[in-house]
Formats: sequence, structure tokens, C-alpha cells
Amino acid sequence: MAEPPRVYVTRALPAEALGPLQGVAEVQGWPEAEVPVPRDVLLAAAARADGLLVLLTDRVDVDLLAAAPRLRGVSTMSVGHDHVDVAACTRRGIPVCHTPDVLTETTADLAFALLMAAARRLYEGQRAVVQGRWPAWSPFFLAGHDVHGQTLGIVGLGRIGQAVARRARGFDMRILYSGRRERLEAAELGARRVPLQELVAQSDFVVLLAALTEETRHVVDADLLARMKPTAILVNAARGGLVDEAALVRALREGRIAGAALDVFEREPLPVDHPLLDLPNVVAVPHVGSATVATRMAMARLAAQNLADALAGRRPRYCLNPETLA
Ligand code: GLV
Repeated sequence: MAEPPRVYVTRALPAEALGPLQGVAEVQGWPEAEVPVPRDVLLAAAARADGLLVLLTDRVDVDLLAAAPRLRGVSTMSVGHDHVDVAACTRRGIPVCHTPDVLTETTADLAFALLMAAARRLYEGQRAVVQGRWPAWSPFFLAGHDVHGQTLGIVGLGRIGQAVARRARGFDMRILYSGRRERLEAAELGARRVPLQELVAQSDFVVLLAALTEETRHVVDADLLARMKPTAILVNAARGGLVDEAALVRALREGRIAGAALDVFEREPLPVDHPLLDLPNVVAVPHVGSATVATRMAMARLAAQNLADALAGRRPRYCLNPETLA
């Protein structure tokens, strides 16, 4: 009987989530749940692996591929795939899979929560209560910005962007979006496509939900920030690299925009001495967009199923380079 394929999983995941690989592959993995696999350990594991189940903290680049002669499948437990050199995998005929759809609603919930937390200054309020800085009820104490009835600008009306737009409709918001192409779904959502520069000039909330690519890196730079309203709030629930953080810090310090709510950063974990964290009008959370137990289980299971399918020569449900499939 042929040897089962060898799979390396780069983080400890519940056995139940890895069910699709049980019995069809020899599964090994990095045993830690909260510490990423060191690069040298990953390279050594890749050398004998037929399949890799990775996270967004693991770089799958040409060096890793060069170290992995047997590799026949890469599956990431994330929708974003900027950590994987998909073009290089395609050149090697290696399918790359990811986990969209199962995290859409959960991530949209978080994006909307960030928007509301920044608009209504929830973290400033929490700090004021905890630190005993709560004066008597006062007319403009911690007065923030309305959400309902305001203009929302969504940069990237993909699956998650559309889910945010659905939430915004419940708040009677006017919805604009920008992106490479017209979206058929936009009409139903009441969303109007405008150029990015017009979107930022008109929006009270700018929510970033685009993928990180060479074209979108630092799409929010000093120039774009200068075009935003001084009362506007920037929300980033996509990738830190979309924003020039140094320019964002300057814009916030100088009061050129009202606030920012960020789930993602150029460098993660965000260093605790980062200047963003000195600013009262910044809400910062640690890349938790899809972090509910149910959704993370669904993502892990889908990543395992995608890899099991790729290794068995079946068509995985979510393959980024289907041209590699027979
Ligand atoms: C999270 O950021 C993901 O890409 O799934």
C-alpha cells in the first residue's frame, strides 16, 4: 500500500478540527497554540512534507518552497493570503487553499464593533471609569460621533465588505464603496461606487476591507488621510500594510482625522511602545476579526478539508490557483 501523505500543521489545533486529515495523512505539527513555529523548524518540517497547513504568521515563500521538494498542497487557515507566494506555488504546480465565507459574518461583526467603539469612544470611557476620571454627568463629557444616518465608505466591497454594508443598512447609513470593479451586489445593498479619493472626502467612517497586494500597500497614505474629514474615523479590519502607519500617527496627532479603530497593524504583535498606543483616539485590538470559537473551528476544519482534498487529487472548495488542479 502507498505511504500516506505527510502533513505538517504549524500550530496546535483541536483534534476535532483536523478530522478531515485523520486516517488519510500522517499528521505532525508544532505543538504550541500561541507561539508561531520558528522558521528553522518550519523549514526542516517542510523538507519532508507533502502538505502544509499554515497560519497567517507563517511565510510560504520561495525559500520555503526550495526547501520542500515533496510539497503538493498548501492550505492556510485564513482568508487573507499575502503571507503565501501564490505565484511561486503555481509555478511549482502546488495548489494553495484558504478559508473565505466561513468567517465573513464574524469579521463583519468585529469591523462594525470597532466602528462603533471608536465613534462612541468606548475605550476612553472604560479607561475613565477604571481610573476614577468620571466627573458628574456633564453635557459634553466623552461626546462622540453618531453612527446612524452617517456616510460609510467601504474600501473593498468583497464578501466581508458586503456583510458590513448589510449591517450599515440597519443603521440607515449612506454607503459608498471603492474597488477595482463594479459589484453586482452593490445595487441591492444601496452602495454607490466612487473613486477612492471621493470616498474618503465624503465618508464619516472609512472601513478598509481590501486584500493586501502590491497595488493596495499603503493605499491609505498622507495624501489620502489629508482628504478625509476632520471628524472622520478610519477602521482597518483587513491588513496593516494597507495603511502608512507613520502618516496615520501624524494625522491623528494633528487632529486631521477624529480617530482610528484598528484590528491589524504593519507589524504584529504591535510593539507596546508604538506611538499609536499613546493616542487616546485610537482603538487597537490584536487581529481578532474572525476570533469566535465557532468561526475559528470552522476555519480550521475547512483548512484541513481543503488540504485533504488537494492531497487526494480532489478539487478543494477554496483553491486560489485552480490552474494547478488536474
Ligand atoms: C484573517 O486576517 C484572515 O485573513 O483570515
